[in-house]
Amino acid sequence: MTVGCSHPENLNSAEYCQGCGQFLLLQNRYLAIKPLSRGGFGRTFLAIDQQIPSHPHCVIKQFFVQYENPQDYQTAAKLFRQEAVRLDQLGKHPQIPQLLAHFEQNKQLFIIQEYIQGKTLFDELKQDGLFTEQKIWQVLKQILPILQFIHEQNIIHRDIKPANLMRRCSLPSSGENSLDTVVDLTQIPPTIPMRDQEQAQISAKLKSTIYPILSPENSDLQTSTDFNKNDIVLIDFGISKLLTGTALLHSGTIVGTPEFMAPEQMRGTVYPASDLYSLGLTCLYLITGISPGKLYDDHDEKWNWRSYLIPQQIISDRLETVLNKLIVIAINQRYKSAEEVLTAIQSSETPVNIAVKPVIPIKKTSAKVVQTPAKTPNLLERIKQNLGYQPLNDPLKSAVGVDYTQLQTLLAQKRWKQADQETWFVLCQALKKSKKTYLYAQDLANLPCEDLQTINHLWVKYSNSRFGFSIQNQIYQTVEGDYGKFCQQVGWLTYNPNNPDYGIEYKTSAPTGHLPTRNWIVSTGKWWKNLEILAEKLASCKIN
Ligand SMILES: Nc1ncnc2c1ncn2[C@@H]1O[C@H](COP(=O)(O)OP(=O)(O)O)[C@@H](O)[C@H]1O
Ligand SMILES: [Mg+2]
Repeated sequence: MTVGCSHPENLNSAEYCQGCGQFLLLQNRYLAIKPLSRGGFGRTFLAIDQQIPSHPHCVIKQFFVQYENPQDYQTAAKLFRQEAVRLDQLGKHPQIPQLLAHFEQNKQLFIIQEYIQGKTLFDELKQDGLFTEQKIWQVLKQILPILQFIHEQNIIHRDIKPANLMRRCSLPSSGENSLDTVVDLTQIPPTIPMRDQEQAQISAKLKSTIYPILSPENSDLQTSTDFNKNDIVLIDFGISKLLTGTALLHSGTIVGTPEFMAPEQMRGTVYPASDLYSLGLTCLYLITGISPGKLYDDHDEKWNWRSYLIPQQIISDRLETVLNKLIVIAINQRYKSAEEVLTAIQSSETPVNIAVKPVIPIKKTSAKVVQTPAKTPNLLERIKQNLGYQPLNDPLKSAVGVDYTQLQTLLAQKRWKQADQETWFVLCQALKKSKKTYLYAQDLANLPCEDLQTINHLWVKYSNSRFGFSIQNQIYQTVEGDYGKFCQQVGWLTYNPNNPDYGIEYKTSAPTGHLPTRNWIVSTGKWWKNLEILAEKLASCKIN
């Protein structure tokens, strides 16, 4: 391939590009074998280093520089050289690709970088499905120290996102590497992406030879000392970031990916906390599979990512707190440094005695069974397969057009507090009142039966018959309308506390009939009247 040519593919035997006549090797050394990406300000190629006998892989990054006069080019080249020095420093970190060379050739700027064998977290999401809480902690604990390291050197990455994070999946060098042979791209069927072939070969090798001893449970047996095999690496540092605002990039070029960008960065100012914001959104993307733009509710002006979690995805309050503080819009309320986040994570961890697992010697088998996962066409299907996702089949009927899907999701996720609030909102809607207005007990008599049926069904179903209006009503009947006894059974206070949440347990283990709270129902005079009114309503709607 000729880097920089519009018809770049050539036969292996060619010394000069058939498209433009350029010499095919960069610096008489680096041979591009496959384009990896093309962005607004450059291109990335997979390449091999011809001067090293084992022909190792490397990555070529070519930067497009727009210049009208030689002076502009000189400025760009100077900045480029300065930036290379900084990249060289950064590459000393084991989770940042090393800078192998930088040079200018034919008035074009290039850097050569260490090749990271592995896949991006974006690819991992597509292939393996949504990230679990455990995987997110791993991402945070691996990426935050890298951010700490670069921020200490006054470098802000500006483009943290799943496609710029790669998980290493590396083989120890064995002397022979079947991937080192120069690939004639003209011979590769265009439908088979190179990376898949590589992955297949790598996993075949891993599985048949060393994978058992490199698997995380046996990590003590790792031979390599400079990095862990499954480390996450931060890629895509570059000159592009330095050149922003110098008019040397193509006009209209935005550095960074708007969806993951902090609001202040969108307005043109960056802080270390801007990278933290993008890291927070990266995590949210990995646990929801929903692009960050959709996770913000413009009406309420707040993040509503929790409502996009599928029911099987359990995220602890501890992780929620960390993620929410990473994505605060106001910089002064966001975490200020990577170090601060790491400290918060560590202090929130309750020390547990982790039993040391004995290392069980791996029995080597001669059978080379390579299990390649069946290809599924889209992310959703993959997620469903991985998580045993079952669509929630509930009849969400409403006589007045109320949408009950949010209530359904919240209850399926056992987010009782939010579900309690949502119950209030849907009751308001079903009674054609505006959101968050208190309801009078007498209003309940006007509820359409279909709507009451739906709300009650969802509560009863997802609480395994612990909560719901009909469950409360059954208790009310057994105590023969005695409000004091009723409260005792369901765990409610018999007086109105100042804080309506006082004494409420939003937990599955709360007493039967404890939820919904009905805190949003007001009654004039006898304030327990709502139980009686609802009892009559349930009977007339034939809901038991
Ligand atoms: N050092 C590397 N090792 C392996 N693959 C890389 C490396 N750098 C980039 N890539 C691959 O190329 C893609 C594009 O590279 P990147 O540096 O992110 O450039 P861009 O500016 O086009 O986003 C990445 O998403 C990744 O798949
Ligand atoms: Mg990138």
